[in-house]
Formats: sequence, structure tokens, C-alpha cells
Amino acid sequence: MKHFLSLADLPDFDATVQLAKKLKESPFAFEDQGKRKTIGLLFFNPSLRTRLSTQKAAQNLGLNTLVMNFSNEAWALEFEDGTEMRGIRSEHVREAAAVVSQYCDIVAIRAFASLTDKENDEAEIVLKSFQKYASIPVINMESATNHPLQALADALTLEENKTIHRPKVVLTWAPHPKALPHAVGNSFVNMMHYQDADFVIANPEGYDLDPRITKQITVLNNQEEALKNADFVYAKNWCSYTQYGHILRTDDEWMLSPEKMKLTNNAKFMHCLPIRRNIVVSDGVLDNPNSLVIEQANNRTYAAQAVLKTLLDNG
Ligand code: CP
Repeated sequence: MKHFLSLADLPDFDATVQLAKKLKESPFAFEDQGKRKTIGLLFFNPSLRTRLSTQKAAQNLGLNTLVMNFSNEAWALEFEDGTEMRGIRSEHVREAAAVVSQYCDIVAIRAFASLTDKENDEAEIVLKSFQKYASIPVINMESATNHPLQALADALTLEENKTIHRPKVVLTWAPHPKALPHAVGNSFVNMMHYQDADFVIANPEGYDLDPRITKQITVLNNQEEALKNADFVYAKNWCSYTQYGHILRTDDEWMLSPEKMKLTNNAKFMHCLPIRRNIVVSDGVLDNPNSLVIEQANNRTYAAQAVLKTLLDNG
């Protein structure tokens, strides 16, 4: 594996989940593997879990970590080629990526979708520019369309908590006051393509994810029907994909409540966090012992560690 931009880059998905599981049991088993090497974590957007868990994962492998909030600490970057740089953008990504490559052996990048220009977002300009101009492996810490580290942690959480071979897993859209990207939903769907599960997506009309990602998966516009007999319920908001970046409804009909969870097979509840209480989901769901959200956050460390170890194995 040269870079980790999406789950498809993993040489073996199941083996990576098993590696994450082993690393969770023995986090320091390879504590010297990254000795005298450095990872740079570059954030164009805020983070709690990704920032701390990726740093911890790197340190568990002996890597030095450099962390930078690129959006307010670095020079504003130009990504277009051939421009006369007269505006506020002081540095071209060609130099920035090459310079970061002098100080680091791996670089990880978070750069969200703008949600104003679908074509531009889908081109993944920031991530792909670093891939092009850096001379070191690039890790996606959530890009415009993908959050593979989250999805890998979610796969580990499913693996640890499933009690039957083929569980029913429901990814349900939930309300949110702000327009949110599709990255987590997309990566969860991509991850479910590797699972033996009865997988259903539930979202209101107008909120279908990119059909190139959902492919043949059943999509229901009736949340309560989808929740019936579910073993896992994963809630997530995303804005409209067809009316790109728009919020089409602001009511709370799709908020998850303990009453709705009663329709399930005593389902475990999942969410990537951060979560707005009593907007996305009510307190009674989050505070229920069936909520896995803190374990999902814990598993972010071991998912990241498995990815870093795989990159280090490649030299
Ligand atoms: N789930 C997740 O990526 O959390 P952060 O945005 O806090 O990193």
C-alpha cells in the first residue's frame, strides 16, 4: 500500500480489521517500528477524535508526530497550476507538499468538502494535490468524499459486537441544523460492501447518497420500516447530494428515539461523533448501554495504527 486515501487502497480489508484487533490487545507490540520516523498531521478543518487517535496510534508505533492546523497556521495554499499568485494565497501546494516531505516520512491530511461545488469536491483537490506533489505516503483523515479511518474503526466495532454471523445493519439519515458532507456515509457504505450483513440505508426523499457508491443496496424512505429487527443502527446526517449542499428539511421526524429503537432487535447504536444531542438522536439512545459511540472513538486509535503499520511494513 503506497497511500491510504480510501478503503480500496488496503491490500486486504479483513486482514487489516484483524490487525487492528490484535493491536488493540497489544498496542505496544511494535513500539519500535516507527522509531526515528515522523508523521505530519495537517488539518484544514477541526477535529477531536481524528487528531488525538491518529497521534496516539503513531506514538504507539514509535513515530514522532508533527501536528499543524493548516487553515489558520500555515500560508494559504494555491492549488491551481499556472496562476499569477497575486491574491491571498501565498504558497503553492507544489512547494508545500514537497517541503512537508522533507520533514516527514508520512503525511496525513484532513480537508472537508466545500459543499458549494460538487465537481470540485469530488475532484478531491487538496488530497490529490498532496498525493501528486509529496514524495511520501499520504493518509486521508477525512476528505471531501471519504472518511476511511472512521469506516475501518466502525468495521472493528461491528466485528467486536456482532453476535450473529449475518446481522441486520441500518444506516439511517438523521436531522442536523447544518449542511454536513457525505464522507462518513459514503465510507460506511463502502465498508459495508466488505461485510456479510443484511444492509439497509434509510433516508428521506431527496437525500439519497451517490448511487455510484450505494450501487444495489436497498434504500428505504421509511425509517421505521428500515429499523425493524435491526441488530445495529448507525445514524448520520448528510446534506442533499442531488441538490448539492442543501438542507431539504428541518423537522425532527427522523431523530432517533428510544421508542424507535424498540422496533429493532435490541440494536446497538453507532455514530461517528461529534453528535448534537436531542437533534440527531435523543439522550435516551446515546445514554443507553447499547450505545457504542465511545467504543467507536476508542477503536479509531487501532484502525489508524493498523493503517500506519501497513504503510511502515512497506518501508
Ligand atoms: N469522527 C471524527 O472524525 O471525529 P473528529 O471530527 O472529531 O475527528
